[in-house]
Amino acid sequence: MTDDLNGRSVIVTGAGSGIGRAAALAFAAQGDRVVVADLNADGAGAVVEEIERAGGTAVAVTGDLSEQGVVDTVTATAVERFGGVQVLVNNAGIMDSMSAPADVTDAEWARVLRVNLTAPFLLTRAVLPHMLTAGRGAIVNTASEAALRGSAAGAAYTASKHGVVGLTKSLAVMYRRSGIRANAICPGGTATAIGVEADRSAHGPAAIGPHFVNLGRVSQPEEQAAAILFLASDAASNINGAILPVDDGWSAV
Ligand SMILES: NC(=O)c1ccc[n+]([C@@H]2O[C@H](COP(=O)([O-])OP(=O)(O)OC[C@H]3O[C@@H](n4cnc5c(N)ncnc54)[C@H](O)[C@@H]3O)[C@@H](O)[C@H]2O)c1
Repeated sequence: MTDDLNGRSVIVTGAGSGIGRAAALAFAAQGDRVVVADLNADGAGAVVEEIERAGGTAVAVTGDLSEQGVVDTVTATAVERFGGVQVLVNNAGIMDSMSAPADVTDAEWARVLRVNLTAPFLLTRAVLPHMLTAGRGAIVNTASEAALRGSAAGAAYTASKHGVVGLTKSLAVMYRRSGIRANAICPGGTATAIGVEADRSAHGPAAIGPHFVNLGRVSQPEEQAAAILFLASDAASNINGAILPVDDGWSAV
């Protein structure tokens, strides 16, 4: 079993960039050992190097987390290298094309739901037996402002992130007597690579038209990571099933 003196075993998905990268660096800086999981091998490798240069411990696992085989490799890596899984951060995600429901293609719907909702489910299901055996665990999911309203993204992304909230609440209820907590953050606009893709899309915020109003300051990935680390920490020991906006008040307007 993992010796906590050596830090917790933490899986962060989408850790090769943006919010996941910031979270991986912050976990490692406080002594946790991090599985850096990402589709992008260069990004994941660079984050592991950065962590190791700073004296931390991390390992990269590259692959598409919507594939069961990759999910199994991520889980096995955490168990074999770090002795279990104390923290799972389901953070990897993709933007959609900002399309309204009638304009969403089958391919876009399938891909966005698969990456944003099914992949977190698959990894959570794979990790749960290890948390249940240990009698402890913290799961933090990265949802979105689009989990709270219909005007922050297209139909596919909005539906996928509402689904992440549902998954989070189900986990919180089902495992609340098992020492496992599950919470989600809902970032507002954050300065990461994901916006680049959205801006290049055929539609963009213009498709949502006058409904799209971002009333929050664009955050830095580190501000999102701070909320993730808090929810994964013992300081949040009585927080379970919380859906936490990290959006400079956008959702309060
Ligand atoms: N940036 C924002 O404004 C914003 C706002 C709300 C929510 N979010 C959410 O934050 C999370 C992190 O995104 P980010 O903003 O840091 O973007 P990002 O693009 O910088 O990082 C996302 C990472 O996820 C990885 N990824 C994508 N699909 C994957 C897959 N199938 N398997 C493995 N890895 C995959 C990418 O390679 C990338 O490294 C996402 O879930 C996103 O929906 C972002």
